[in-house]
Amino acid sequence: MLADRNGVPFTPIRRLGPDDHRHCVALSVDRGWSPEEAKWSLLLQEAEAFGVDAPDGGLAGAVVLARYAPDLASAGMMLVAGRYARRGLGKALMTHLLARAGSATVTLFATDAGRPLYAKLGFRTVRRSVAFTGGFRLTAAPSGGRGGSRPATGADMAAILDVDKAAFGADRGYLLRRLPAFAERLRVLQAAQGVTGFAAAWRSGAVTVIGPVVAASGADARRLITDLAADVRGPLRLDLDPDRPELPEWALNRGLEPVSKTAVMAYGDSRQRGDPSRLFAPISVALALPPESAAPQASRTAATGPAEPRAGYWLTVTWFAG
Ligand SMILES: CC(C)(COP(=O)(O)OP(=O)(O)OC[C@H]1O[C@@H](n2cnc3c(N)ncnc32)[C@H](O)[C@@H]1OP(=O)(O)O)[C@@H](O)C(=O)NCCC(=O)NCCS
Repeated sequence: MLADRNGVPFTPIRRLGPDDHRHCVALSVDRGWSPEEAKWSLLLQEAEAFGVDAPDGGLAGAVVLARYAPDLASAGMMLVAGRYARRGLGKALMTHLLARAGSATVTLFATDAGRPLYAKLGFRTVRRSVAFTGGFRLTAAPSGGRGGSRPATGADMAAILDVDKAAFGADRGYLLRRLPAFAERLRVLQAAQGVTGFAAAWRSGAVTVIGPVVAASGADARRLITDLAADVRGPLRLDLDPDRPELPEWALNRGLEPVSKTAVMAYGDSRQRGDPSRLFAPISVALALPPESAAPQASRTAATGPAEPRAGYWLTVTWFAG
């Protein structure tokens, strides 16, 4: 029986809904994460969130399951309030989520804090992810629609969903359909044969996160990102696979720095779906920014491996491994 430090048992894990928004935000803040109000709103409406009530009010812990297909899902927003840490709540929440996911493969972005727990539960690391952030240096003119990207319109959504499904290998349309409202900008790459890629930019506190980025080539991904970045004021964030050649070195050369790393982990069958070479950035991984003056000078090691973030300054918030 799970209990708080006074031996008072926790109530059973329950499904969370929009009424729990305030407490979910408080959990993020409790762990030093960005409050992520908009993201919690989206997840509480569109995904399956589970939580445990804290005996002293609010939530003691939460986790979110997003299903994409009967055999594919992702987990995120795994949080246990600091005062209830290391009492088995994280394990209980993830075990509950895995039971709810049934036979689906579950993927997630793991922080260093989460990785040991996930490994014990049977998750395996399948790749790495590094957050690059900073002011983006524009060295080429945005394409302005000529042979490149243009703002998406409502009429593009069907093509966006097709492009995404072919790359991701499952239908994450219920989230992507929310992008026009959730994101500040959504752009598509238009080729003669139709839409071949898309990317979104959305705000997380002071940072503009670019993701998802789905494109047929590294050059197309760079075009989309450059065109989105042209309209961004303030720091930008891109989550990239440091072991792929197309974007990390380019991101460094545009002034972005590797500031935090996560491990993408999978539970269950991790066979390849879709065309992962077309997935350049996930929908979302967010962060809390340090004060401008305290920004770390991360080492420029994207080509050889992820930089070690400075502990305490940069905090990743995992969401979808999609
Ligand atoms: C990661 C987190 C959710 C773990 O929750 P928790 O309730 O403290 O974890 P539990 O008490 O259920 O621990 C479960 C098991 O993992 C182990 N474990 C948990 N955190 C660990 C850590 N940081 N290092 C090593 N082992 C750890 C525990 O020892 C325990 O092992 P056991 O079952 O053999 O005793 C919590 O630390 C947290 O919210 N951290 C901040 C947010 C975060 O990084 N979330 C993860 C996002 S991917």
